[in-house]
Amino acid sequence: MTQLSPVDIDLSDDSIFERGEAHAAFATLRREAPVHWNPGGERMKGWWDITRFEDVLFVSRHPEIFSSERGITMFEPRDPNEVNPAGAGNGIMLITMDPPKHVKLRRLVNKGFTPRAVNAMEGHIRQITNQVLDDIAKKGSCDFVLDVACQLPLAVICGMMGLQKKDWPLMFELTNKVLGSGDPEYQTDVPEDQRGTPDAARITGQMGVMQMFGFMSQQLEDRKANRRDDLISLLVDSEFEGDKLSDTDILWFCFLLILAGNETTRNGISGGLLALCEHPEERARLQADMSLLPSAVEEMLRWASPVTHMARVALEDTEIRGQKIAKGERVVMWYPSVNRDDAAFQEPNRFDITRSPNDHLAFGIGEHFCLGAGFARLELRVMFEELFRRFPDIRLDGPPERLRSSFIGGIKHLPVAFTPER
Ligand code: HEM
Repeated sequence: MTQLSPVDIDLSDDSIFERGEAHAAFATLRREAPVHWNPGGERMKGWWDITRFEDVLFVSRHPEIFSSERGITMFEPRDPNEVNPAGAGNGIMLITMDPPKHVKLRRLVNKGFTPRAVNAMEGHIRQITNQVLDDIAKKGSCDFVLDVACQLPLAVICGMMGLQKKDWPLMFELTNKVLGSGDPEYQTDVPEDQRGTPDAARITGQMGVMQMFGFMSQQLEDRKANRRDDLISLLVDSEFEGDKLSDTDILWFCFLLILAGNETTRNGISGGLLALCEHPEERARLQADMSLLPSAVEEMLRWASPVTHMARVALEDTEIRGQKIAKGERVVMWYPSVNRDDAAFQEPNRFDITRSPNDHLAFGIGEHFCLGAGFARLELRVMFEELFRRFPDIRLDGPPERLRSSFIGGIKHLPVAFTPER
């Protein structure tokens, strides 16, 4: 393979991730240009690629310098009038808020995500996992992503929000449209011959956001009329800084939760199974001693890094690794890269289910550290406990199909085979 040069690397090209070539690009950037300027394009402003562990720690731990309020993805249109639906939530969603407002809202919603709240869900999560596995038990083969990995996080987050089961497939479809807007498979609102273009991606993302808001608005009206034992009802009755949350605040929070809680965990599960299948010795070690699972889950998360990037905007002139960053410039933190930085991990390209220490950044770090990390870890642990108990010989039955996205490290399809239950 020809050697890459940093100037040839454009991480906004989603197809690098679809082809599974991102790690080669990250290795080059970490080595040769760890703080690397990408000039952007006709529609998109430029940004700094941050690929070293220590630098992502610095950015994440200094929200007073690096703001989330101007958006957390690499995309910032050059034209301020361009419709950017996700940008409409900037400063309103928890994930796009800066301190001190962020700290206060986080304290409010944290109650539902404490270790105690997470532990209380274990029985429920195991029950859902087994229902999901019952549906494939007699088949002998399936698409692991569609039939298993996507089902558990979808059921958990939709259940928390009190969404009816009939609506869960719609939530799956809309999450894919919003987070996988660049992938032709999800561009179903665009004529077939126009899919795969930047315009198709823009339309798909916009449609996904609009349809999600339409759906969530109906849910909100329903809960206002009839409170239930669910998160949306709880939000309707919550107060923030002495006032009730506005409809807009609640809708954006629902939007964030359904996106954040769904596709990420799905890809942690699929990416975890793929890593285990590709490392049979590590897998055998795990299946011989399932007490290693908690540490194996951490290694699966480091390896798969389901969230590929988060961005910040500099609020003042600053420096990273001696490189000047001007006020207003965007920095993009690449998690799969920092999770394979040899300055932070010994032999980072070795998949080791007993790796210790394993302080990976798959859930981010600092103020915005993933609110749902406890749920995600529990879902992964329970899933692999039940999966290997019931289908110990589950194996790949075809190549994985990856998502065309620079934001989510996604697997769309993963064919597997196993001995069916009698
Ligand atoms: C393997 C699964 C998951 C991964 C890899 C993941 C990753 C992340 C990352 C990297 C961030 C940090 C954002 C930043 O620094 O800008 C984050 C934030 C967040 N995550 Fe997750 N996440 C996962 C699962 C979940 C689940 C299951 C939920 C909800 C039930 C959730 C809800 C959130 C929320 C609400 C935030 C924003 C927190 C804040 O801004 O204070 N995530 N997640």
